[in-house]
Amino acid sequence: MRTPLVMGNWKLNGTKESVTALVKALVQPANDNSKVEVAVCAPAIFIGMVEELAKGSALKYGSEDVDVHTSGAYTGENSPAMIKEFGCKYAIVGHSERRAYHNETDAVVAAKFKAAQDAGLIPVLCIGESLEQFEAGKSNEVCETQLKAVIDACGIAAFNNAVIAYEPIWAIGTGKTATPEIAQDVHANIRKLLAKYDADVASKVQILYGGSCNAKTAYDLFKQPDIDGGLVGGASLKAPDFTTIIESATKTL
Ligand code: 13P
Repeated sequence: MRTPLVMGNWKLNGTKESVTALVKALVQPANDNSKVEVAVCAPAIFIGMVEELAKGSALKYGSEDVDVHTSGAYTGENSPAMIKEFGCKYAIVGHSERRAYHNETDAVVAAKFKAAQDAGLIPVLCIGESLEQFEAGKSNEVCETQLKAVIDACGIAAFNNAVIAYEPIWAIGTGKTATPEIAQDVHANIRKLLAKYDADVASKVQILYGGSCNAKTAYDLFKQPDIDGGLVGGASLKAPDFTTIIESATKTL
């Protein structure tokens, strides 16, 4: 039985005031929904605040990205060791926005995955196809290529300590959530691919769905046998909506 994981990705949003209010409002639902793991991934500049606000609660947190280096002349970056020092459990790697706007290749994503894991963080590997690829029926092929790049670089055992997020790019921020059937199909295929390497790893790894996952769509998605929770963008910024999403995960148990 895999523990459901509901994770927010705040992206480039928040003020000191809104972060304080949001984290304070999420502590209770995180504590109450004890069979679900709840986490928020914050812009690096807010992580110290989240650490203070979430202290003593069940709310976990992480970074939205991570650099491959531990230290040195890499202006503007945040190392996995720094992120770990602030109490983060997770680091998102390979989000489609990083791939698209920062030219992150599969090789870079694999290096970030490894660097995060080496520092004791759990990488949340994002994979997913564009609208064009979706319409061409290439969803599984694209996900397999992105996943294999990390398996080849880090080994299948690395997925004992990682999370995968299937995020179809056409569903991100568009309000067009993938149907539960479409998402389940891709999730099952991801698990099938992993099982070719190691059945035990495949059966245990959490695979999250992301892309317009909201208070209305979450429950039907989370009910699917291979969907183990969500990576939530816009709806994770609103405490009542994110709380409903957390509760949707509990309801599936
Ligand atoms: P939205 O939930 O805003 O579509 O974003 C999804 C996402 O990219 C999470 O990483």
